[in-house]
Amino acid sequence: NKGKYDHYMQKEIHEQPESLTTTMRGRLIRGGSCKAKTVLLGGLKDHIKTIRRSRRIVFIGCGTSYNAALAARPIIEELSGVPVTMEIASDLVDRQGPIYREDTAVFVSQSGETADTLLALEYALENGALCVGITNTVGSAIARNTHCGIHINAGCEIGVASTKAYTSQIVVMAMLALAIGDDAISSQARREAIIDGLFDLPNKVREALKLDQEMKDLAKLLIAEQSLLVFGRGYNFATALEGALKVKEVSLMHSEGILAGEMKHGPLALVDENLPIIVIATRDACFSKQQSVIQQLHARKGRLIVMCSKGDAASVCPGESCRVIEVPQVEDCLQPVVNIIPLQLLAYHLTVLRGHNVDQPRNLAKSVTTQ
Ligand code: M6R
Repeated sequence: NKGKYDHYMQKEIHEQPESLTTTMRGRLIRGGSCKAKTVLLGGLKDHIKTIRRSRRIVFIGCGTSYNAALAARPIIEELSGVPVTMEIASDLVDRQGPIYREDTAVFVSQSGETADTLLALEYALENGALCVGITNTVGSAIARNTHCGIHINAGCEIGVASTKAYTSQIVVMAMLALAIGDDAISSQARREAIIDGLFDLPNKVREALKLDQEMKDLAKLLIAEQSLLVFGRGYNFATALEGALKVKEVSLMHSEGILAGEMKHGPLALVDENLPIIVIATRDACFSKQQSVIQQLHARKGRLIVMCSKGDAASVCPGESCRVIEVPQVEDCLQPVVNIIPLQLLAYHLTVLRGHNVDQPRNLAKSVTTQ
């Protein structure tokens, strides 16, 4: 039931404040005045120590689920100190890449039925790794065949383009980082700030959803473009990949997510006054580097759309021709959850304006159960 919405994708974008609340329900403990704030992930409780002691954490997924893991990677590395590597499921299987008994392999899948991810799971089980599932579907093949796991509880997702599952996956993996990270005094303030940030995240997402009309206006400007680049780095490299994936899969416009640090190693050659480029430059440790990327793109007459934290428009925009998307600022590791919202809205509006099928994009299926 689409309720008051025209499409499932639109409904699922707008219900994210609620789906995120459900994802966190019962899992975040704020504690009393002297009790620490903690995270409870029931499905992992017998395995947390093994995960903490593993030699490596390998994230495995496809499409949006892979991007969600990429967004969570830095915070898992920071809080756990365990090296994290990323694998696209099909590529791991193609290479028969190394997976060891000392590894924790985390399988991320909305449906829990993706063929490539399932084959990678079979492979990791054969190699003796501890296998953890992060899925949205209770009783799915990945939920059944992993040793333990976490359900994201985002509610049924019908649109082929994954939206609310993406943000819930990131939140679950941020909670995973808190659960496996040690409780060292040195990281206590950071951990508590993240937990407070998680509590407030649905409100910040609600605020970001108010960009709907602005994103529709931007979509009108971009409707006839051939291509759209999205530059991000750090926590928001994943946002760049995911924003571009959304745009290409539903609006059928070519779009590419680019790691901003790679700009001078090829992509800069594409820049001219016609190609629209979104640069994600919200506040985090990479902010000044992104400011310099903006300056360099501007010097080459790039057609810039800058996503920045609220209040930063004047300081990030190099000239009058630059458009801005201002988003609410949250704890750096949670910023990808907020930053993807305007890009989901942009992809949605572009698709409607271009007259394409929003919920059933050409040639795609919700669950890819064949190789
Ligand atoms: O169900 P899964 O999360 O395993 O699906 C993985 C991809 O097929 C999926 O995320 C796909 O990329 C989406 N259509 C993207 O919106």
